[in-house]
Amino acid sequence: MLKATSVKAALASSAPQDEILVNGWVRTRRDAKTFSFIELNDGSCLKNLQVIADAGLPNYAEIQHLTTGASVSITGSLVPSQGQGQKWELKAGELRVLGGADASYPLQKKGHTAEFLREISHLRPRSNLFGSVFRVRSRLAFAIHEFFQNRGFVYVHTPIITGSDCEGAGEMFRVTTLDLLNVPRTPEGAVDAAQDFFKRNTYLTVSGQLEAEAFACAFSKVYTFGPTFRAENSNTSRHANEFWMIEPEMAFTDLAGNMDVAEEFVKHLITDVRQHCAEDLELFSKFVDKSLLERLDFVVQRPFQRISYTEAVELLRTSGKTFEFPVEYGINLQSEHERFLTEQLFKCPVTVFNYPKEIKPFYMRLNDDDRTVTAMDVLVPGIGEIVGGSQREERLDVLLASMERHHLDPKDYGWYLDLRRYGTVPHAGFGLGFERMLMFVTGVGNIRDVIPFARTPGNAAF
Ligand code: 4AD
Ligand code: MG
Repeated sequence: MLKATSVKAALASSAPQDEILVNGWVRTRRDAKTFSFIELNDGSCLKNLQVIADAGLPNYAEIQHLTTGASVSITGSLVPSQGQGQKWELKAGELRVLGGADASYPLQKKGHTAEFLREISHLRPRSNLFGSVFRVRSRLAFAIHEFFQNRGFVYVHTPIITGSDCEGAGEMFRVTTLDLLNVPRTPEGAVDAAQDFFKRNTYLTVSGQLEAEAFACAFSKVYTFGPTFRAENSNTSRHANEFWMIEPEMAFTDLAGNMDVAEEFVKHLITDVRQHCAEDLELFSKFVDKSLLERLDFVVQRPFQRISYTEAVELLRTSGKTFEFPVEYGINLQSEHERFLTEQLFKCPVTVFNYPKEIKPFYMRLNDDDRTVTAMDVLVPGIGEIVGGSQREERLDVLLASMERHHLDPKDYGWYLDLRRYGTVPHAGFGLGFERMLMFVTGVGNIRDVIPFARTPGNAAF
């Protein structure tokens, strides 16, 4: 049997070919006098392959009934195209209809709203826009592995079910097999976790960091790349309840080294996608965000601005701008503040570091001022925070004091404290939100449109 050729490979052919097999879905079909034109797409690239089906084909009547969305398998010859804008077309010798699609197929040619397309998340990858989004998503994932593998990082699979709340925000989805109609209770009336599947409370992880730290203290440089879950009820265009995160963790590294890697990483990913997804990015720059390519190139070329949290607060306070959330030292920077810094003040990515210890998680390293911790967030135009990280507290006594401040019981973190008992080292890491990065490189404005099947409050269809 003939091995199938992808549309992408067919279009890139360097010479005519007598016989190839191409499979795909009909994007459009129209009739001429003695033949039918079919635009065929198989997802391998944005472009369609034009197919000419001659009226002499034995099943021509069936072909004339082919509509948008139908699946076909075609053998024929690849010949130079007479038409504009394409080098090759396929002259069908045999066209088999695999599956028809009737007029109720929702992805007809006319433009659809993003909201409507989310309701058909199972079909939208067959559209031009979402085809491009998910090809870029795939390439970006590959580029992430390549970046770290080329630099000697070891990929570690951290657990998805966990007992610890890394970020301490209490935004965890509970994992349980307890009978919800008959929950076992302790004498005090609390849920008796000892009778649950793992004999303790367990949750879906919000971050693989703590476990990555354990591996960094063995392999020196590691990264995780996997799904994370947050039960936060935020209905914004930048929050999902299930998202993917890349978390490098590096022993013998301080805050400055951490910021360097984050910046190099973000720039590398942009450069890679610019190079390998040119056709898809062209579509985004035409239909989603006209200034996309210019902005991406600008970000790659220029160093990120680095400012301390204290400086950031001063700049915001003296900016003359009125914010919905007033700015004073000690607040969590809100999206409006982050976006003002990166979009209006500096007009480039900004790395903010050294935040007040009160507003950051327990694991961040305390600075000598005793007020701030070595946190760092990278903010980018259009999105705000894309990276969050820190140097970690490697001193056992200081870590214990921090846990006490955060009302954490050291008994629950015995293994994590061991890392400070046995061969502790300065170490640092960060988390890059995969979907936020994807929004940044595509210009797509809503996180729901860069996730195949998004999970947001009230939505877990598919
Ligand atoms: O700033 P976050 O909460 O940091 C951590 O989880 C650390 N443990 C990472 C580390 O140091 N290893 O999250 C990191 C990044 C954010 O900057 C953001 O890009 C993304 O994850 N993120 C989300 N993306 C989509 N939806 C959400 N609800 C997100 N919450 C965080
Ligand atoms: Mg953060």
